[in-house]
Amino acid sequence: MEGKKVIAVVGSTGAQGGGVVRAIMNDPGGGFAARALTRDIGSDKAKELARLGAEVVAADVNDVESLKRAFAGAYGAFCVTFFWEHFSPEKELAQAAAMAQAARHAGLQHVIWSTLEDTRRWAPLGDERMPTLMGKYKVPHFDAKGEANRLFTELGVPTTFLLTSFYWDNLISFGMGPRRGPDGKLAITMPMGEKKLPGIASEDIGKCAYGIFKKGREFVGRTVGVAGEHLTGAQMAAALARALGREVRYNSVTPEAYRGFGFPGADDLGNMFQFKRDFEDVFCGVRNPDFARSLNAELQTFDKWLDRNGSRIPLE
Ligand SMILES: NC(=O)c1ccc[n+]([C@@H]2O[C@H](COP(=O)([O-])OP(=O)(O)OC[C@H]3O[C@@H](n4cnc5c(N)ncnc54)[C@H](OP(=O)(O)O)[C@@H]3O)[C@@H](O)[C@H]2O)c1
Repeated sequence: MEGKKVIAVVGSTGAQGGGVVRAIMNDPGGGFAARALTRDIGSDKAKELARLGAEVVAADVNDVESLKRAFAGAYGAFCVTFFWEHFSPEKELAQAAAMAQAARHAGLQHVIWSTLEDTRRWAPLGDERMPTLMGKYKVPHFDAKGEANRLFTELGVPTTFLLTSFYWDNLISFGMGPRRGPDGKLAITMPMGEKKLPGIASEDIGKCAYGIFKKGREFVGRTVGVAGEHLTGAQMAAALARALGREVRYNSVTPEAYRGFGFPGADDLGNMFQFKRDFEDVFCGVRNPDFARSLNAELQTFDKWLDRNGSRIPLE
């Protein structure tokens, strides 16, 4: 730890934060040390981070005082919120406010805020192409993150706004993998038409974030996006078929149909995919895989990710 710049990592036992901690710990000569924040320092995941050499400390993003203690003395922080645990954009806003306040209180020199577009900038509430959700959002799990950007800016926190991409890991753990259709064939279903979806291995988000910290102040005050590859649904299905050795089709549905699937958050995800489809240029344009590779030389393509993870995708 001596002489190293400490990065306090929110969500360290999760996908994005875990990637940040592992990236730091895998580069012992890089000049950084990881402080892993968790609500439960006794969990198996927390113990595993300690075994890797991370300092593990207790903090809850609903408790600003715990964040102040956890950020104290650090050089920087990686900040993320957890929409799918509570489905509340207002909670995300409050948690982002707490992280920004704690960052300012600790005098952090560099914060990375894992954010997404406030889609209302492109699809205002009056835009009838997609329904307004929860009274004032188009894509609730995007909009509040984008709205929260200003909370960091207004407090003068030196922040890099990191736009993430669809995790390919969703095919394993978020129910988005190939499913058997009425015809008995495996298919992935997305309302993307022929448009490209920027995707990434979730582990690579953390590696890219570490690459941003290593660049020093170059990206402070800037918005940067990362993706491993931009692929159409048909290209994803073809790659899945190659990796799994099974026929996999792309089932392109309308956003209306997707919103009607009825699982929790289907309307939010239907709007999300529609935003990515209808504003493909904007969405892909800000997530350049070459840029991501300049931050993280190990950035995976979808084929590479499938080589390593294809066997973990549940098929039945
Ligand atoms: N899935 C995608 O394709 C995708 C793409 C882009 C962005 N995102 C966004 O990514 C975010 C989630 O990040 P992730 O995937 O890295 O999360 P994750 O893997 O679900 O990790 C969640 C971790 O957050 C911690 N956590 C939960 N509530 C907490 C609290 N109140 N205080 C402190 N820590 C808490 C938990 O750690 P402990 O239990 O150890 O405290 C847990 O391990 C979401 O907001 C989502 O919108 C997702």
